[in-house]
Amino acid sequence: MAAKREMWGSRFGFIMAAAGSAVGLGNIWSFPFKTGENGGGAFLILYLIFIAVFGLSVVIAEMVIGRTAQKNPVGAFRALGGKAWPLVGYLGVFTGFVILSFYIVVAGWTIAYIGFMASGALSNPDATVLTDTFTGFIGGGVTPIVLAGVFMVATAAVVLGGIGGGIERASKLLMPLLFGLLLVMVVRSLTLDGAGAGLRFFLVPDWSKVSGDTFTAAIGQAFFSLSLGMGALVTYGSYLGRDTNIGSSAGIIVLLDTLVAVLAGLMVLPAVFAYGLDAAAGPGLSFITLPAVFAAMPGGMIFGVVFFTLLFVAALTSAVSLLEVVVTYLIDETRLTRTQATVFAALVCFVLGIPSSLSQGAMDITVFGRSFLDAADFLATNLLLPLGGLLTAVFVGWVLGPRAVAALTNNGTTGTALAPIWLWVVRVVAPLGIGWVLITGLL
Ligand code: PHE
Repeated sequence: MAAKREMWGSRFGFIMAAAGSAVGLGNIWSFPFKTGENGGGAFLILYLIFIAVFGLSVVIAEMVIGRTAQKNPVGAFRALGGKAWPLVGYLGVFTGFVILSFYIVVAGWTIAYIGFMASGALSNPDATVLTDTFTGFIGGGVTPIVLAGVFMVATAAVVLGGIGGGIERASKLLMPLLFGLLLVMVVRSLTLDGAGAGLRFFLVPDWSKVSGDTFTAAIGQAFFSLSLGMGALVTYGSYLGRDTNIGSSAGIIVLLDTLVAVLAGLMVLPAVFAYGLDAAAGPGLSFITLPAVFAAMPGGMIFGVVFFTLLFVAALTSAVSLLEVVVTYLIDETRLTRTQATVFAALVCFVLGIPSSLSQGAMDITVFGRSFLDAADFLATNLLLPLGGLLTAVFVGWVLGPRAVAALTNNGTTGTALAPIWLWVVRVVAPLGIGWVLITGLL
């Protein structure tokens, strides 16, 4: 028997924890480099459209499922839908494993960068030096694997402590701090000599660069950044009280996440151009660029240490939500205790992460022409998350239908004007739109 389910301490705490899940490496690491790889402004516009149309509506859908069922994703789909629907929950648990396996690798890099900044090893803003430091480090073999392990242990430690105190308290304090520091960095980056070209690249769309892949990448990034399509928000929603206003909470979370991504773009891309780096350089972009921005700031070394520490924390609150999905599932559906489930899931993710880490230079491990890390990212982010989101929308729209509207409006007491529009979006617009993007991407 499961003990009485924990609840969030307050609506603010819930919003901060969900924002903590959403805001992570996706915003500061992958958003800028994916924008860089996919032609800048056009990618930004597609991303914003996907967030507004599919993202927001599926965020609400996941929270409605979680709060209504008060269960892990597999159990929730079973309780509310029966038959084949738990498969969507299993898909989410599987996706969580895949994402976490490469997430810990990149999060491990943030630990190394705290050290690099503190030691002054990155005080020379020369692009070649910064690039060599990065590629040398991630290709180094053992150290990045050890740091991924350290990060996995930290994540497991928080998850072992349960949902309330740890995650909620840390998020409330550290997220606002990260936000403030980001603003300082944006100002510094935008005032660098030559920043204008980066700003133009980011804000002015060049539609000639857009292909089916751009759409797939933008929708994947939207889902990844919102922690959507794998049950994380079903899980967090399952700890929600009956009277919380889901619609407005979802709106705030989506706005915060999008704001942080756009700020990260404004922080990284102008500096990329100012220092003559390549915007399409791939996963190293933020790690190579940010030290250059710090080098150009008075007290940059201290700012750098603080920034990478906060990035580490942002990654931690996201990783916790990923691991929590897997652990909640294992606790509810098997006989494992929280401790056993956490240790088991963490070990599996860590082992899966090793080839991702090695594929960054130490060994040549490629899948379909991508490094193992990129392949895991592509599979989970661009295919599995949108697929999970599509199925979630169909489920809420067609299986729950009016029940979902009743749940969203707290039985007709709030947001009654918008709820029918939302239902229409999850029934028709989201399934067709996401399906279309997925199919064009595959062809
Ligand atoms: N949203 C997180 C980020 O941007 C990653 C994440 C994806 C977390 C899916 C949970 C579920 O870093």
